[in-house]
Amino acid sequence: MENRINKGSYSSMSNQIELNIDGQLIKAEPGTNILQAAIDAGMYIPYLCYYPGMKSFGACRMCVVEVEGGRGLPASCTTPVSDGMVVNTNTDTVKDLRKDVMDLLISEHPHGCLNCHRIDLCGPADTCLRHVSVNDRCVTCPKNERCELKDTVRYLEMDLDTNFKYNYRNLPLKVDEPFWDMDLNLCIVCARCVRVCDEVRGDNVLTLTDRAGKSLIGTSTGNSILESGCEFCGACIDVCPTGALVEKNHKWSKAATTTSTVCSYC
Ligand code: SF4
Ligand code: SF4
Ligand code: SF4
Ligand code: FES
Repeated sequence: MENRINKGSYSSMSNQIELNIDGQLIKAEPGTNILQAAIDAGMYIPYLCYYPGMKSFGACRMCVVEVEGGRGLPASCTTPVSDGMVVNTNTDTVKDLRKDVMDLLISEHPHGCLNCHRIDLCGPADTCLRHVSVNDRCVTCPKNERCELKDTVRYLEMDLDTNFKYNYRNLPLKVDEPFWDMDLNLCIVCARCVRVCDEVRGDNVLTLTDRAGKSLIGTSTGNSILESGCEFCGACIDVCPTGALVEKNHKWSKAATTTSTVCSYC
C-alpha cells in the first residue's frame, strides 16, 4: 500500500474522484470502471469485449492492468475506480499477459497475416511470402484496416510465432441471410453483438450457442434472423470487432464518416 497516492492531496470537493493512470492524474465519476475512465481521459488500454455505452462483460482479458496494492491483474473493464487508485497499464507483466491472451485467441483465428512483418505492405493481389491461404489473409477480409483485432495485435507488437497450434474452425460461411454475411471462423466470441441487440436494441435476436463444447454465436430461435425478430438495425455489425459479421451489400465499403451518438435508434 506504500505506493498508494495520498487521497487527501488532491481529492476534489465534487463527486468526482481522482486516480493515477500511468503517472497521469485523471478524474472520473464514482462507479466508472478503470477502462472507461482511461478512455474518457483520452488514454488507450486495449480491449476487445468491452464497448463504451454497454455493460462490461469481462470475457477477453485484453484490458488487464496492475492496480498498486491490489492482487493479480484485474480486467480494467470490470474494476471500478476508487479515489487515490494507482493503475499501471503497460508494465512488462501486463504486456506479457496480454500477449498470452492474444496467443490463445488467435490460435482459433486466422493469423498468418496478423503476425507477419509484411502486414502493412501487402495488397490483395500480392503473392504471400508465407504461403498463407487466401481465405486466411487479412488483405482478403472485408474488415481489413478497420479491424479491432488487427489493431490490437499491432499495438501488442506480437512476435512472429505464437505458442499455440492454429486450429482452424472450418465452419461454413453463412451467406443465406439477406442482411449480413457471417463468418464464425473470424468470431472471437466477445458477445458484443449479442449484448448490443439485447441491451441497446431491446431485441434478443442473437445468443451465445454451444458447438461441440465451444461457445459461438447464433440466433436465439435457431432459425433465420428475420424469424428471430431482427429489425435489421445493423448495430451488431457495427460493434463486431472482427470480420465475423459484415453487412452483405456493403462489406467492401469503408466508412466515409463516423458519428458518435447515444441514440439507440440511430
Ligand atoms: S477479422 Fe481482422 S484479423 Fe481477422 S482476418 Fe479479418 S482483418 Fe484479419
Ligand atoms: S440487426 Fe437484428 S440482430 Fe443485429 S442488433 Fe439489430 S435487431 Fe439485433
Ligand atoms: S460475431 Fe463479432 S461481435 Fe459477435 S461475438 Fe463474434 S466477434 Fe464478437
Ligand atoms: S475488454 Fe475487459 S475483459 Fe474484455
